Parts: sequence; C-alpha cells; structure tokens
Amino acid sequence: MTQDELKRLVAEAALERVSPLLSPGCVIGVGTGSTTNHFIDLLAGVKARIGAAVSSSDASSQRLAGHGIEVIDLNEADAMVAYVDGADEVALDNALIKGGGGAHTREKIVAAAAGHFICIVDQSKLVDTLGAFPLPVEVIAMARSSVARRLRELGGDPRQRPGFTTDNGNDILDVHGLVVDDPATWEALINNIPGVVDNGIFAANRPQTVLVGTASGVTLRE
Ligand code: 5RP
Repeated sequence: MTQDELKRLVAEAALERVSPLLSPGCVIGVGTGSTTNHFIDLLAGVKARIGAAVSSSDASSQRLAGHGIEVIDLNEADAMVAYVDGADEVALDNALIKGGGGAHTREKIVAAAAGHFICIVDQSKLVDTLGAFPLPVEVIAMARSSVARRLRELGGDPRQRPGFTTDNGNDILDVHGLVVDDPATWEALINNIPGVVDNGIFAANRPQTVLVGTASGVTLRE
C-alpha cells in the first residue's frame, strides 16, 4: 500500500471510531494535514449527523466549508465529541511532534478543549525517540533571533521556515538536532522562552488514542 492509502485507511478507522458519538447537533474538532484531509473528506459523507466543526487551520476550514460542513469558532463551541488530527512523529508513550503544517498552536488548543484527541498516522510516523523531525516552534517575529539564540544554547539548530507565516501571523523556527528524550520537560522548557507562542511537542496534551495505519491493518494505541 502507498503512504497515501495508509493515510486513507487510518482516516476511515477514525471515522468508524467517532461515528457512534455523532448526532445532528454535535461539534467535532478537526486538525490539519494530508491525513486529516482524508478524514475531512470522509466526514462529508456523514455531515447530516454533524452540527458543526471546530477547525485548527484556515486550510482545514476551507476544506470543511467546501463540503458544506459548518465551521464555528472555538469560543462558540460548548463541547466537542473528539478532536481528530495527524502527527509528524509518535513516540512509544504517544507523545508527539506536530506542526509540519505550521498549525500546531491552534491544534494544541483545539485538542485540549476537546478533551479526547484521536491521533491518526501511517506507520512511517512511529519513532522510539522524538526529534528526528525538526521541531516546529511558533515565535513572535520580533523575538525570532533571541529565541533562536536560546534554542542554540539548548543544543538545537533553529532555521526559520522560509516564506511561511502561521494563521496567527507569526514565524516558525524548525529546530533540527534535538533529542527530545523527555518530551514533557522539553515542551515546557521551550514554551518558557519569551517570544515562543507554542512548540510542536504534544506531551502534556498527548492523544488519548493513536490509530496507526499499517500494511496489515489499523492498530490501536491507548
Ligand atoms: C500540521 C500537523 C500535521 O498533523 C502533521 O504535519 C502531519 O501531516 P500529514 O498528515 O500531512 O502527514 O501537525 O501542523
């Protein structure tokens, strides 16, 4: 199977999992990326059983709206049945690196608000230790250099993502060379640097459920 077929497979498994929770008035949280795009496209088939979606990016909002699914602001949503999103790396303890699409700040907010994060990945995303994927750090533009200096002191090699501005109007530093052996500590340490909006480690807000698309089917990690 191709990687894209595995992404579709795991998106189908996520829909199967959330299906019993859907009702015409319900709200579902939706992430960003090519795996989530499959999930959004599948949601279109059950849109009569969804009240609205809360989206983590402008790109996903547009895709949802294109399918006729109403997108509401998080501030208008009382509760979500679940939040479904992909990841760039998944460690053995289900801690993640996200933000390959630069949307991790909103993704973390919506995931936390939903209370149940279902992470959908193909098998290529599984790692023993986080950090081979450069860690995305969203920064306020005026603090880019000072944050980069601090990240270098911590052993990383931060590189500004060229030609990219987040939906929040900020810059992204992709930090190469970090060995994220203690994700919760690294997440807090980096977020404590003045000027950092949020980094792509999901440890404090790791998913409750991880579905993995493999050549022999979908496996579940909880
Ligand atoms: C976007 C993300 C994505 O979930 C992550 O990059 C995975 O993307 P894909 O499903 O395209 O592999 O964190 O900010």
